[in-house]
Amino acid sequence: MAIRNIREIGDPVLNKNCKEVTEVTKRTKDLIQDMFDTMYDADGVGLAAPQVGILKRIVVVDVTGEDPVLLINPVIMETSGEQTGNEGCLSVPGKTGVVTRPNYVKVKAYDENLQPFEIEGTELLARAFCHEIEHLDGHLYVEKVEGELMNTADLAE
Ligand code: NI
Repeated sequence: MAIRNIREIGDPVLNKNCKEVTEVTKRTKDLIQDMFDTMYDADGVGLAAPQVGILKRIVVVDVTGEDPVLLINPVIMETSGEQTGNEGCLSVPGKTGVVTRPNYVKVKAYDENLQPFEIEGTELLARAFCHEIEHLDGHLYVEKVEGELMNTADLAE
């Protein structure tokens, strides 16, 4: 296991399009394990490969700390409803902002054996899926913030 360096806003790697994964090599498996380790180490609920400098369509999510989800080549198939709430990103440390997202999403993705599956999420899980999948197309949540980007330290006061 290894903790990788998380790239921060301003790093051009965060604004690039990621490539589809066509084979899962030992190297890919190491990357996936490192992404989980890095996400948990940073107390995050999701991490996308470009956040550790790798331009591949791989996302890890765990909104409870006990439900790890790996998404390879994820695509949002369906959305419904709406939720508005605070969002943050490990690549934008110390900041948060209000973003409106679907309250439900259905995602098609591939597992570590490149077998397809579908997964549904509501509330925070739906938000995390949307946020992480956007990273794969070079987008950060700050583009969608309603009002000002705030400091998390100010919110806690
Ligand atoms: Ni993020």
